[in-house]
Amino acid sequence: MSNKFVSLAAPGIANLQPYVPGKPVTELERELGISNSVKLASNENPLGPSPQVVQALHGEIAGLTRYPDGAAYALRTALAEKHGVDPACITIGNGSNDVLDMIARVFLHRGRESLFSQHAFAVYPLSSMAVGAELKVAPARDRGHDLEAMRQLVSPQTGVVWIANPNNPTGTWLQRDALYRFVQDLPAGVIVVIDEAYFEYVGEDDYPDASQWLDEFPNLVVTRTFSKAYGLAALRIGYGLSHPDIADLLNRVRQPFNANSFAQAAAVAALGDVDYLRRSVAFNNQGMVQLTRGFERLGLNYIPSVGNFVTVDVGRSATEVDMALLREGVITRPVENYGLQNCLRISIGLEEENARLLASLEKVL
Ligand SMILES: Cc1ncc(COP(=O)(O)O)c(C=O)c1O
Repeated sequence: MSNKFVSLAAPGIANLQPYVPGKPVTELERELGISNSVKLASNENPLGPSPQVVQALHGEIAGLTRYPDGAAYALRTALAEKHGVDPACITIGNGSNDVLDMIARVFLHRGRESLFSQHAFAVYPLSSMAVGAELKVAPARDRGHDLEAMRQLVSPQTGVVWIANPNNPTGTWLQRDALYRFVQDLPAGVIVVIDEAYFEYVGEDDYPDASQWLDEFPNLVVTRTFSKAYGLAALRIGYGLSHPDIADLLNRVRQPFNANSFAQAAAVAALGDVDYLRRSVAFNNQGMVQLTRGFERLGLNYIPSVGNFVTVDVGRSATEVDMALLREGVITRPVENYGLQNCLRISIGLEEENARLLASLEKVL
């Protein structure tokens, strides 16, 4: 449909396609007149919130009429302690997407290139196009990031290189030595973002914590989120770790009160609830085994994943399979828009939700 104002929009906006979120359960149930559906579409934590978080949220209600702390003092202090960095290295976001967007606004513009991998997280092109940057997409290898292919695309125009480790929607990950060498080889004037949204789930020995490299690489930004293993997706809270000079620039474009008071208090409480985090990861590990064994039983190929989701090849149009699953009350995410033909991304749910997905998949296939 043509838009009569598109010629007035900033360059880059005309070709933008809005991010497609997973359908909310309430909307699906209203549309199909069903109840009891399960949502395995947005890589959320199926456990529900930590009781300590719920308590912290109650404590915030009395302050509802006041603006939140724009500097997020308590949260930045807690994060500085967790990561052993100065609070000046931390940029708080309304979700880590917000931090990714700030990075694009600060370091990309027309004439600059934004470099990422094929099948990489959708927000990198979105935020880059919105500021008029040119997209450079390195071909993937075995559906994961090919660092050599990415390195070859670095040019004098490269502004930002984005790496999700692990990546969404593939769940693939990069090993410590390879990623370290890649960052080391980049020109000092290229900003490299290592997006660790699923960091807490990864148990592999060779999986790097890129925040350990911040002292060595002033051009590095590491992003983390409370939306996944910490279970706070609805509140929208995440952060960036970087050299203070980068954080200073990001904070210049940050909206004054981008992280609300509930999100800040919940994040502080979530950091203190180590048991919740441990349970989240344990549940995820069990669910991953349950789902992947189920796929194997159904004869379906999947991409081995270290996140809280797994992408499976259903061998035919994923959009059609998704529609059929919706009619069974199971919401998943077709990822053909990521160049993954015939693939559905399925978030790990509770045991009964995973069982329901597998039974529905068997039925519709
Ligand atoms: C790789 C990756 N990065 C960042 C995000 C953004 O998460 P949030 O904005 O909720 O922190 C997501 C969310 O799905 C993701 O998959």
